[in-house]
Amino acid sequence: MPSYAVTGANRGIGLAFVRQLSAKPENVVFALVRNLNTTENLKNLKRSNVHILKADISNIAELKAAAAEVAKITGGSLDVLINNAAYLALDRMGLHLDGYPKGQEQLLEEDLLTFYRVNVIGVVHTINIFLPLIKKGSLKKVIVISSGAGDLDFTVAGTFAVNAPYSISKAAVNMVVAKYAGEYKEQGIAFLALSPGMVDTTPPGAAPITTLEWMQKEVEKFKKVVPDLPPPLTPDESVLKMFKVIDALSVDNNSGAFISQNGDKNWF
Ligand SMILES: NC(=O)c1ccc[n+]([C@@H]2O[C@H](COP(=O)([O-])OP(=O)(O)OC[C@H]3O[C@@H](n4cnc5c(N)ncnc54)[C@H](OP(=O)(O)O)[C@@H]3O)[C@@H](O)[C@H]2O)c1
Repeated sequence: MPSYAVTGANRGIGLAFVRQLSAKPENVVFALVRNLNTTENLKNLKRSNVHILKADISNIAELKAAAAEVAKITGGSLDVLINNAAYLALDRMGLHLDGYPKGQEQLLEEDLLTFYRVNVIGVVHTINIFLPLIKKGSLKKVIVISSGAGDLDFTVAGTFAVNAPYSISKAAVNMVVAKYAGEYKEQGIAFLALSPGMVDTTPPGAAPITTLEWMQKEVEKFKKVVPDLPPPLTPDESVLKMFKVIDALSVDNNSGAFISQNGDKNWF
């Protein structure tokens, strides 16, 4: 019975991972959420192979408790860990590094630290805490959901200056993946930084991100680099594509790489 753990599983791409994984009754799926009071989407799936566990990825004690619970159910192993959770601060995503209002240097510093703390250190803690289980699993894969926003060449080519603290955190987590891939190649554990593409994860009732003024400018820039820019993917479309890449992943194929849902450096 293949076992999967997904962080940030209550909505967006994480929920789509759980939905598709749990559609196969032979899979055991651990949906990690930071708030047990917002799990209606998961409960509505009505899948007996989904186990909902509490884990804020910046909380070591919660991660350890979740891993212990997983081990209890699987007998001590986990096949695939999908690090999907990420911190996003939508209201400040449109700012440049030098664009925070005068006198708000402290807010810039807090943003840089918070993005790093959750999206990099939180992922490192999650991997370290689940690694003993992965070592005993049969598939031995660790996925980190990254972003094309963390691609240096793409950033320079497109002159993308907004969303800096997030992009910096994703670039850093790509290096995290490369480090683990090197360390665990001999032990047969594969790691991958995987970008999901541009995915519409707007919560019901909220304005889509593409309607924000800074995002519209950004999309115009995207089109200069990618003239035939496709529309955003749905979470399920993105996850379907990502599974093809995840299934093909091994220590000899793409481990340590940073690639997209297309299996290459095409981020859309
Ligand atoms: N959507 C895109 O176009 C896109 C593009 C590139 C990369 N990505 C990446 O894809 C992943 C999923 O994105 P998404 O669009 O689905 O995001 P989303 O809809 O905003 O969902 C983010 C998820 O992460 C959880 N989360 C946030 N901070 C957490 C923490 N400290 N501990 C545990 N969980 C936490 C949220 O929980 P709550 O519900 O409790 O807030 C939520 O479940 C992220 O890694 C993101 O960077 C997305």
